[in-house]
Amino acid sequence: MESLPTINVGIVGHIDHGKTTLLYKLSGKWTDTHSEELKRGITIKLGYADSIVKIGEDGKYTTKKDAVGKPVRYITFVDAPGHEMLMATMLSGAAIMDAAILVVAANEGIKPQTKEHLVALQAKKIKNIIVVQNKIDLVTQEQAIENYKKIKEFLKGTIAENAPVIPVSAQQEINLDKILEQLCKIEIPSRNTTDKPVFLIARSFDINKPGTELSKLHGGVLGGALKQGKIKVGDELEIKPGYSYKKQNQFYYQTVKTKIVSIQQGDNKIEEAIPGGSLAIETELDPSLTKADALSGCIASTSGALPEITSEIKLKFNLFKEVLGTETNDKVAELKTMEMLMLSINTSTTVGTVKKVKGNEAELSLKIPIVPLKGDSIGLARNIGGHWRLIGMAEIV
Ligand code: GTP
Ligand code: MG
Repeated sequence: MESLPTINVGIVGHIDHGKTTLLYKLSGKWTDTHSEELKRGITIKLGYADSIVKIGEDGKYTTKKDAVGKPVRYITFVDAPGHEMLMATMLSGAAIMDAAILVVAANEGIKPQTKEHLVALQAKKIKNIIVVQNKIDLVTQEQAIENYKKIKEFLKGTIAENAPVIPVSAQQEINLDKILEQLCKIEIPSRNTTDKPVFLIARSFDINKPGTELSKLHGGVLGGALKQGKIKVGDELEIKPGYSYKKQNQFYYQTVKTKIVSIQQGDNKIEEAIPGGSLAIETELDPSLTKADALSGCIASTSGALPEITSEIKLKFNLFKEVLGTETNDKVAELKTMEMLMLSINTSTTVGTVKKVKGNEAELSLKIPIVPLKGDSIGLARNIGGHWRLIGMAEIV
């Protein structure tokens, strides 16, 4: 498995357009598992699943476990929520994607989060995009063609202009092999394995069942992706901003130090990991420190490799012309001092107050500190009518 070319593919798009269903059909895993997700029938947290793509004897691409064929690629998937309130979660997922599938339901067409997610991919410089026109079983052939044209029109002038658009029914398993074929055509990005490791934590867990014997307890688990460098079992890790605690009404952050106990990619345990695909790292941490995503948004690296965390940042920003996440296409107003913005940096989300604006530069004071890595693209969102809407992009200067 390790030797197969590996990529991490995100599944994005408007709510209910069929992302989780598609992932289920491609991986055999239903990733909506939390009680709230099951109750509401929507994805709330990032979902993970993985597949080995094989070319079967009939020449068709498949991920069916029992299919006979030649394995050609290992794909890890990240399932993002489509709900407009969960844009920050989608953005933290986008931080670890190499490529993305943008799902558009044929019976509903282009919707606000279709636009917002595509722009988020653009902002995160995710150029490898495959567009899936899903639910074709719900429309007539004429409607499907009409919708297909509209999708093509919508993609014009965007990074996905030349992206393949594949008519699919996830539910009826129509054309899934075509998606896989396209996924296998994506060029594996060049991986930086020589610099200090940067592991972006998107989820963190306590994997122990209640009542597990003390001697059999697993350490805290970190889920995410290695952006650069190498990590191996036994390595010491330093996690920042780390563990947060409250003292006299103020939050403090404590760097967390630990050791890697095991590394898992899908069902496989591996000794060493290089970038490509998502990973789960078991650590020596007390699982109470990692439960319920307590360390999501943090960055792990080797001791002393990460910069100091900071709450005061200077940004160079670019605002979009219009607000994308709504039906009304309102203009994006200039940044104002003292206004609050939500920032998505790597897998973390924080809120900041604008202290100063000059031209396209701004100074912000953040509620949750960040690890200021150079060159990271930051999503800026403004609260409009009770919803955080993506209004532009920024970079730390
Ligand atoms: P969020 O995560 O909440 O954004 O939704 P989602 O995009 O993951 O959608 P999900 O996969 O949960 O599917 C929503 C509904 O659409 C479910 O009832 C699915 O059964 C249905 N659905 C998904 N794909 C298809 C399809 O190809 N055809 C039909 N008819 N229904 C589909
Ligand atoms: Mg879903």
